Amino acid sequence: MVNGDIKIFSGLANNPLAAEIADLLGTGLGDVSIEDAPDTETLVMVNESVRGCDVYVVQPTSAPVNDNLMQLLLIVDALRRASAKRITAVIPYFGYSRQERMAHGREPISAKVVADMLQAVGVNRIILTDIHAPAMQGFFNIPMETLSAVPLIIDYLKQQDLSDSVIVAPDVGRAKLAEQYAERLGVPLALIHKARESATTARIVGMIGDLEGKSPIIIDDIITTGGTIVETAHAVLNAGARPRLRLAAVHGLLAGSAPDRLNLDFIQEVLLTDTVHIPAEKHTPNMTILSVAQLFAEAIHRVHNETSVSGLYLLT
Ligand code: R5P
Repeated sequence: MVNGDIKIFSGLANNPLAAEIADLLGTGLGDVSIEDAPDTETLVMVNESVRGCDVYVVQPTSAPVNDNLMQLLLIVDALRRASAKRITAVIPYFGYSRQERMAHGREPISAKVVADMLQAVGVNRIILTDIHAPAMQGFFNIPMETLSAVPLIIDYLKQQDLSDSVIVAPDVGRAKLAEQYAERLGVPLALIHKARESATTARIVGMIGDLEGKSPIIIDDIITTGGTIVETAHAVLNAGARPRLRLAAVHGLLAGSAPDRLNLDFIQEVLLTDTVHIPAEKHTPNMTILSVAQLFAEAIHRVHNETSVSGLYLLT
């Protein structure tokens, strides 16, 4: 599918996705060893020549975030020192993206720190998916492709029975995203108004839209603990929605007991993608995981062949 001077490497964060991408591109995965030293330092060794190659490193910086980030930084450093021609960091989920501004005095802008580190080690180009705050693009002074997996979710939903459906945004921050879902699916929109009490707690203070007798599809970009989306589910049930809900998000971080929290009898389906690897023990019977491999393979193919990637952006 692509010329011979391309190589795809993977850290340990989402090897199945990286392998599927490499398979679709017909390249196979590059040979890299990654181990923990006895003192928990990360040891990386690239075991094949990359001299003059166009190299892509697939590594979402999901949990354990700092370990996965460090693996990515060290792989890129090794590739640069081994004379790779161009290094693209393919980061399907960008850890620290929710710390993209100072919400209070004396806080770091952690997403900017990560962007600086990636550029400092020699990343030449970056490919991301559905970043939490699009303005974060300005943290990078290198070419960037921002893909969206939302059209995959929309295409899947279009094949379902959507009669009486309503798209629900769990907070005003997701209103634009919810509007895009609602428009493309041709269903109405409802909006929850949340007041954030701390970094981890929020309270529902209002609701706009008609939910009586409706089948809600609650959307978000990320599900971490499941708290936001399940709390929204209870709120829409209290507002008269039918107990047949769908939840949809691109990034399923699923921390701690999130899978149990999502596995409720009134939640018909939890739709996620594999930007973050979801191990079998976190799968629940109501979970559907859509693959982003084809999207990334196509993006890498176009970048490598210097053709336009804009047709893949779709949503911003
Ligand atoms: C926050 O701004 C994000 O858009 C998600 O709403 C949040 O990450 C979800 O977290 P949790 O599942 O822990 O409520």
